[in-house]
Amino acid sequence: MRYRRFSDCSVSEKMLDTLFILTLSAGYLLAMVLTYTVVGFSVKDIELKYYGNRSGTRLEAALNGPMRVYHNPPEHDEIVKWIYAGSTEKQYIAKIKPIIDEKCVKCHNPKSGLAIPDFSSYEKIKPLAAADTGMSIASLARVSHIHLFGIGLIFYLLGRIFILAEMPVWLKRSLVAVPFLAIALDIGSWWITKYIPVFAYTVLAGGVLMGISFAVQALTSLYQMWFYGPKGAETEKTSTEK
Ligand code: HEC
Repeated sequence: MRYRRFSDCSVSEKMLDTLFILTLSAGYLLAMVLTYTVVGFSVKDIELKYYGNRSGTRLEAALNGPMRVYHNPPEHDEIVKWIYAGSTEKQYIAKIKPIIDEKCVKCHNPKSGLAIPDFSSYEKIKPLAAADTGMSIASLARVSHIHLFGIGLIFYLLGRIFILAEMPVWLKRSLVAVPFLAIALDIGSWWITKYIPVFAYTVLAGGVLMGISFAVQALTSLYQMWFYGPKGAETEKTSTEK
């Protein structure tokens, strides 16, 4: 039997496919911008997101980093001592709360309108004084299921367009499968990285593979739809998949 190819599509179908692919591409680029600004693309960034920074706390990192300017060295020592002594509530009330109230709460409060942690109570500040163990299972499950549904659907629809292209059968069969392997590699590695940080490399590899397969399928489809069309006898020969 003869399978449908781009040369069998009407112009309106090709327009629909083209606009769909262009819209997806814009979505893909914006997803990249979002990932870059929220996580970053380095292996270290990925490791911090999923595995965390188990040797330090977010509070201490901020005190040594951007929040350095808002307190003085004796206060710094006091807070760091409290973190390492187990960050108890009793000690907090006695020694730390006065510093936080005076130096930090003017920004770190729910009314500030800034997307920063609220320090108006011990319960709120305590998680930042504990070692950062990366993304929680609940967040991982939430982000994973959204991505599996979303990306799975996108590659299914893009793949339905792409299979109308002409190319050797072995190549097409591989290119149709690769994005799904990439999804499994990427998202599977998020979970493993939570426990074994070196898998940040496979997260990156999965993401890169996904991007490449998206580009290959989108560009091949657009090119063949509009600029390529074996005619006559040739069509019979090359467009019949066995
Ligand atoms: C002038 C406003 C302001 C003051 C005062 C301030 N902060 Fe911040 N803080 C910010 C902003 C804005 C951010 C987010 C941007 C950033 O991380 O640089 C932030 C981020 C943080 C974070 C990072 C949270 C995370 O996501 O890891 C911590 C922890 C923190 N501040 C602690 C403190 C402490 C402790 C003090 C008092 C010594 C303090 N801040 C004083 C504005 C302030």
